[in-house]
Amino acid sequence: MALNKFEKSKAAMARGAKVLGGGTNSNFRAGVSPTPLVIDRGEGAYLIDVDGNRHVDYYCAMGPIILGHNPPAVIEAAKRQLDKGIIFASQVEAEFEAGELVQKLVPCAERVRFAGSGTEVVQAAFRLARASTGRNIIVKFEGHYHGWLDNVLLSVGPTAEAGGPADAPNLVPGSPGMDPLAAKNVNVLPWNNLEKLKERLSKRDVAAVIMEPAMCNTSAIRPKDGYLEGVRQVCTETGTILIFDEVITGFRVSAGGAQKVLGVTPDLCTFGKAIANGFPVAAIAGRADLMDMMVPGKVVHGGTYNGHPVNMAATVAVLKELQKGDVYKKIEKQGKRLMDGIGTILRDHQVPNRVQGFAGIFHVALGTSDPITDYRDSLKADKARYVKLTAAMVERGVRSLERGAWFLSAAHDDAVIDQTLQVVEDSVRSALR
Ligand SMILES: Cc1ncc(COP(=O)(O)O)c(C=O)c1O
Repeated sequence: MALNKFEKSKAAMARGAKVLGGGTNSNFRAGVSPTPLVIDRGEGAYLIDVDGNRHVDYYCAMGPIILGHNPPAVIEAAKRQLDKGIIFASQVEAEFEAGELVQKLVPCAERVRFAGSGTEVVQAAFRLARASTGRNIIVKFEGHYHGWLDNVLLSVGPTAEAGGPADAPNLVPGSPGMDPLAAKNVNVLPWNNLEKLKERLSKRDVAAVIMEPAMCNTSAIRPKDGYLEGVRQVCTETGTILIFDEVITGFRVSAGGAQKVLGVTPDLCTFGKAIANGFPVAAIAGRADLMDMMVPGKVVHGGTYNGHPVNMAATVAVLKELQKGDVYKKIEKQGKRLMDGIGTILRDHQVPNRVQGFAGIFHVALGTSDPITDYRDSLKADKARYVKLTAAMVERGVRSLERGAWFLSAAHDDAVIDQTLQVVEDSVRSALR
């Protein structure tokens, strides 16, 4: 392996350390082995870094890239809008069209509102839930991520020791500097455990339950059979608002989100990432009676960049492509091939492993072959060994997340998957023996 393969990335990161706080613009992009990459451009399923290395990209920008990098129809739509101006503090027709497409595709979407990030639409959902129920408490689950703010960066990735009892987890802040008062009205429970949720909601003092309908920030865990249906029922019975955070699963596992695939409709839902293939768009969608509370004199939700014309034009182009369905057929085929292929290679080399999730977002764990059904199960994985594997793969031209997640796009075709499986084979031989 060439010693200086990432020389320019390393030099650029050293420059970044002198200008950006902590050297990057997001903590989640730092600390990658052998170096965080500095990217020159994307091409379909590939990224080309500043050293000229070509990588098959399984980060997919951590979820947004669903059509592949730079899809022509989307780029064209954004350029056409850009030629008309940037932003007007008014409506543009593309907002309505984008909203109508979401309405058509997503089961819960009687109404839609667009914003700029997943983090902020989660907060809008909480506000609506509190306003409509007159209650304050939010229930979230261990291992689920809903943005970086103080009332949700709680028990996202705690150690088992800090987390305490698995069936009654402690509320563990995810960062120094968080306001302890912001956690006062948040309860954390184990996910995929209906009895614990029923017990908690029976007091009828919870405004909302928020969850990723499939837990994609930890191990791509599907809900147990009947769990979501049970959650839906107990929320309805106790007057609790059910929020699905589909920032990852939305427009990735299907055009109707995980709610369509899993057959359970929440009251409110949040989207981001794949909704606009990387343009900074998020959305809250849900019941009309809740969503229509956002009017002057009632529930406040604002944002200078909400419904940004260029982003909305791109969203329309993305959703029109996604509604055709071919994208999901391609991803289903290639993702399954890749999941099976990785599992087989690891097994052939006697490496215990668990590959699970959806074709478009799956997770590979080493050191355990049991199904991972909740956050505590995920702690059994040998993360240090997995990082050795990702470091060996990036040296060979395949870039995937150190936390075990793999995101696919429609640009990952047969040749890309063949290339990837060869790299996995070579990397397992070199790094895991
Ligand atoms: C499920 C989920 N919710 C919310 C967020 C926050 O979204 P954003 O990074 O756009 O603020 C993320 C980001 O990864 C996410 O995965």
